[in-house]
Amino acid sequence: MNRADGKRRIAWAEEHMPILERLVAERAPQQPLADQRVGIALHLEAKTARLALALKDLGAEVAIAGSNPLSTQDAVAAALADRGVHVYARHGATAEEYFTYLDQVLAHRPTLVVDDGGDLLTRLHLQHPELLETLRGGAEETTTGLVRLRAMHAAGALKAPVIAVNDARMKHLFDNRFGTGQSVVEALMHATNLTICGRFALVVGFGHCGRGVAQRLRGMGARVGVVDIDPVKLNEAWLDGYEVGTMDDLVPRADLIVTVTGALRVVRHEHMLRMRDGVLLANAGHFDVEIDKVALAELGGEPETAREDVTRYRLADGRRLYLLAEGRLVNLAAGDGHPVEIMDLSFAVQALSVLHLAQHRLLPGVHEYPAALDQEVARLSLEARGVGLEVETEEQVRYRATWQEGTK
Ligand SMILES: NC(=O)c1ccc[n+]([C@@H]2O[C@H](COP(=O)([O-])OP(=O)(O)OC[C@H]3O[C@@H](n4cnc5c(N)ncnc54)[C@H](O)[C@@H]3O)[C@@H](O)[C@H]2O)c1
Repeated sequence: MNRADGKRRIAWAEEHMPILERLVAERAPQQPLADQRVGIALHLEAKTARLALALKDLGAEVAIAGSNPLSTQDAVAAALADRGVHVYARHGATAEEYFTYLDQVLAHRPTLVVDDGGDLLTRLHLQHPELLETLRGGAEETTTGLVRLRAMHAAGALKAPVIAVNDARMKHLFDNRFGTGQSVVEALMHATNLTICGRFALVVGFGHCGRGVAQRLRGMGARVGVVDIDPVKLNEAWLDGYEVGTMDDLVPRADLIVTVTGALRVVRHEHMLRMRDGVLLANAGHFDVEIDKVALAELGGEPETAREDVTRYRLADGRRLYLLAEGRLVNLAAGDGHPVEIMDLSFAVQALSVLHLAQHRLLPGVHEYPAALDQEVARLSLEARGVGLEVETEEQVRYRATWQEGTK
């Protein structure tokens, strides 16, 4: 891919993100982000470029880095830089480069931060605390980032307000479930060129994302098993028709394992010893810590490149275990990420968070996503699709408020 491809990808995203388009059209004339500097760390691909351009159109100076070394698309990054956004990212950045890029974003002294996973905000607190003086706040995109920021708050270390974008209903109900569901399956197919149907696929973690992944894998013809540590979730998976159990029960039967928990070392040495020959291992959780790569290397020796995004480990007894996308979130490292319309919803939620932070002084801590903004994204989404919304009659409102009379 070259710059021109990057430009076309951004144009494609722009053509299919009507909510952001409306939002910008409604608000750009007032330039609500004039005088604001927005620092972003997000998966740097076309939909993210659209968000960065929307914030710029609303008046902000925007600097952006990736939120994962493998999810940056260089062509998109180059095309975005051509449109006046400060871009610091490269696909395949080393860990050192990755943090240097975050520092370069912070060198713009952001007044507002958009983060995905919490790296930019924690870096700001730990390495550049002087920026807290002018920081109005941040908006966090994902489950894992919020877990980190809440831990930071509990330890008394969070010194800025952060809006929990992930927890917006218009974000996690659609992005985590339908976005992750479709894009993980798409990336699995693209990376391996193998069938989904006929496989026994094990989904570890039946949260918002895992539910979507399990649903789409089943839709493609896989038999699906589910593991979770939450007994309620496992009951839900059972009644949804999945096979349920522990890692010990289900790992030996799996042809494909997808982790999506946000937890550490979910697939470990003892599980690898019992895996089938040819099993595909993929992670969709935020960090590359869910599949124990150290254990894989210990058991499998020198890794071999099987395909572009597939690493082969050969065990002493000849079994082959295949790790996709180095255990990084597979749908972004070996795919294009969520579908465009889904990111239109998520990034409309993000854009409204940024506007809210620019307009309100909030106290340090993790703040719930304002319900009124959720409603606004939902309204814009329906309007963009030309869908009307039923309105309660006066009689229905009165009936709902009545408690004295019994059922008629
Ligand atoms: N790949 C993507 O595009 C994408 C999109 C959104 C979120 N995420 C990331 O995916 C992860 C999950 O997000 P979510 O919104 O589904 O979170 P969630 O909290 O809704 O679900 C996580 C599930 O994993 C379970 N779990 C936790 N530890 C476990 C363990 N040791 N073994 C088995 N199950 C365990 C929990 O009980 C829960 O049901 C996070 O890291 C999040 O940041 C990825």
